[in-house]
Amino acid sequence: MDAEQIARAVGHTWAGSLAERNLARRLALRLRHLIEGGVIVAGTRLPSERALALALHVSRPTVTDAFDELRSAGALRSRQGSGTWVAERGPATGEPAMAELVLATHGINLAAAAPADVSHLEHLDLRLADLLAATPAHGHDPVGLPALRAALAERLATTPDELVVTSGAHHALTLILGALTTPGDPVLVEDCTYPGFLDLLAAHRAVAVATGRDDDGVTPDALDHALRTAGTKLVYLTPAVHAPSGRATPAARLDALAAVLDQHGATVLIDDTLADVRYGTKLRGLAARCARAQAITVGSLSKSVWGGLRIGWLRAPAPLRQAILRHRAQVDLGTAIASQRIAQSVVEDLDAILATRIETLRAKRTRLVDALPAWDVQLPDGGLTLWARLPVSGARFAAAAHRHGVVVMPGHIARPDGRDDGHVRLCFDREPALLDEGAARLTAAYAELRAE
Ligand SMILES: Cc1ncc(COP(=O)(O)O)c(C=O)c1O
Repeated sequence: MDAEQIARAVGHTWAGSLAERNLARRLALRLRHLIEGGVIVAGTRLPSERALALALHVSRPTVTDAFDELRSAGALRSRQGSGTWVAERGPATGEPAMAELVLATHGINLAAAAPADVSHLEHLDLRLADLLAATPAHGHDPVGLPALRAALAERLATTPDELVVTSGAHHALTLILGALTTPGDPVLVEDCTYPGFLDLLAAHRAVAVATGRDDDGVTPDALDHALRTAGTKLVYLTPAVHAPSGRATPAARLDALAAVLDQHGATVLIDDTLADVRYGTKLRGLAARCARAQAITVGSLSKSVWGGLRIGWLRAPAPLRQAILRHRAQVDLGTAIASQRIAQSVVEDLDAILATRIETLRAKRTRLVDALPAWDVQLPDGGLTLWARLPVSGARFAAAAHRHGVVVMPGHIARPDGRDDGHVRLCFDREPALLDEGAARLTAAYAELRAE
């Protein structure tokens, strides 16, 4: 790539508002993101420092310092007389990602965080004539059925025209990333997050930048620091019920985070997929606490009702919603009307469904905790899963569980840096007999590992 091509990829916004003395760090960060995002591929020979400095309108020492930083991080290599090129990456690790678990068909599946019992849908009745009564009659509608959006808007205290119905929350997230990111863009995520979002970032060749959290959620200081230094204003959070730990962020922390997001004029992508299956009192959400920050909220019926409906939604301010819809019209033509019609009836009845669901979830949570060995398990505030910490590697435990015919999610796939600290995620939204058998097999797998 020549200097002009690299300068075009670097773009105009990388320098941000930081003082001149930070320019080299900013440039190094932007180049690193472009390399990690595959925009500047391994083996690419970089132009001379002088040529790049000219193309970027910065001083030559700025480029020299940025290259030095990237060389010491192992991202660039140089040899006297041969110039500077992008280093080859190490061999692929072959680590499982969320996508691999979605494809797992083996044994008792405690990895998929989705309800397996849909008896709460049994009383619903859908006639074919209802489908054809839907508008528009031809069935292609990237925005979503007006009647479903009206029902959702009432629950979410918004207006139907702020909402877009999607084929699940995962789909909403992919539409948002498709509309708002380009390859190499950094996106802030919690240092432990929904692994499916990490897969989506990889698919969009965007780069996850980890932000520290404690048991109450991402910490305001870490968020402030990340927004100052990471070269992005796009942040992804799951504050109502955190994925994968199941912890809820308390009101005071939500206020503090909203203040930081406002101060930076950030765009925050709030994933409320688990919000409806919070066991305790529901708090006013993070979006409603933000004044200046732009909030996009994503939700779903997959955890509260059934993943098979493939119904989710997103709520976004008008300009962002327009950009997302334009992108959607390029990549798909709308969500199935049959699912939307079922969802409409479900949403009108959701409070009653949730009351029973939450009671059932609490009972199943206790049943699985009681059946497992004494691992370090913090009871979740919501959701369908236990986030358990074992005194052994989570990846090795998941492999041992697999040998015993149980699929569990190893915790390291939830971390942008892939760190394995012994966590695994176990779904307890299964029928009691399956939970008991699953726990017995996990106990045997654990004993086998400890004996090695
Ligand atoms: C936090 C989070 N976001 C999104 C999703 C995807 O949900 P859906 O089934 O609605 O696509 C999940 C489910 O696994 C999740 O836990």
